Amino acid sequence: MDFYQRSIDIILENQHASGAYIASPNFPTYHYCWFRDASFVAYSMDLVGQTASSQRFHAWAASIVNQRLPMIERTLQLVAAGSPIEKIEVLHTRYTLEGEDGTLEEWPNFQLDGFGTWLWALNEHRVRNNISLPADWIKAATATANYLEVLWHQPCYDCWEEFPDKLHLHTLAAIYGGLQACQELDGKDRADTLAQIKSFVFDRGVIAGHFAKFIGSDTVDASLLGLSTPYNLVAHDHPLMQATVLEIEKILSQGEGVHRYNSDTYYGGGEWVLLGAWLGWYYAETGQKLKARKLISWIESTADKLGYLPEQVPETLNDPEFYQPWLDRWGKIATPLLWSHANYLILNYRINH
Ligand code: BGC
Repeated sequence: MDFYQRSIDIILENQHASGAYIASPNFPTYHYCWFRDASFVAYSMDLVGQTASSQRFHAWAASIVNQRLPMIERTLQLVAAGSPIEKIEVLHTRYTLEGEDGTLEEWPNFQLDGFGTWLWALNEHRVRNNISLPADWIKAATATANYLEVLWHQPCYDCWEEFPDKLHLHTLAAIYGGLQACQELDGKDRADTLAQIKSFVFDRGVIAGHFAKFIGSDTVDASLLGLSTPYNLVAHDHPLMQATVLEIEKILSQGEGVHRYNSDTYYGGGEWVLLGAWLGWYYAETGQKLKARKLISWIESTADKLGYLPEQVPETLNDPEFYQPWLDRWGKIATPLLWSHANYLILNYRINH
């Protein structure tokens, strides 16, 4: 099967008329559009030349933010006045495909990384297509960056929607990457905040010679790969980054794929397709193409007969006892998962360009 073309088709088939990308069409809990997932999907569409698709997503995302400008303004004022975080309104991490806040069930909505990722993907869209962006998109980007600038040092749920009382290095890196990208979009100088985030990560986020999952954690999380690729807070070849990757390889990659973190129990804590792609992306950026290609083959081996890539595969499970309870609760592992396909496409592109 041509997995590359299949991935493009699956993504395009699952883009809603509104421009939103559903996280997974066959997994009821994921019938929403997450800023995090969808920004990677849009980036992958830019890489493969499906610019109209990424353009429709960015228009959707900008309208989500622009419809909430009064709320963002209220939040900025309350934070400036020292209001406790529990009392303020926040941008949700996911929206219905029509662009409404999802209210059917409780959701851990205070997550900042997806908005940083969106700003990064938006700037990539501009640069790759050599275009200037509509003024209302820039307005949304500036509001998003202002929101991130006042909230970056607040604990929030991480990219796995867990540990709300922690400050997560992946989240900080995504905010950093997003603010840096936004400087290029709106020309507003954010150097002070960028410097503060970077020193905070280096001063507080290092344990035993490598970066930590969150401030105070003694272990790694595979999402730490984002510190260098793509958010560029740390150089690929910085000794701390290299030590972090070694640690990820050692404790999170016993099989062919990559676990999120060693005590993850979601569906037993299997090997995540998109994390295989992220590790491969780091390898591709550092000239380790053979290792990157091995991950491409592993990802392709996880596809089903329809070419659908799952969120994770139940191999080398951290804790097999948790597999069945999640099956009973939410059904079979999300397949296809759009950002698994997106990150597979990104890895392909990165190996070949
Ligand atoms: C993952 C998130 C993801 C969401 C939708 C969650 O289980 O932890 O990273 O954004 O699913 O795909």
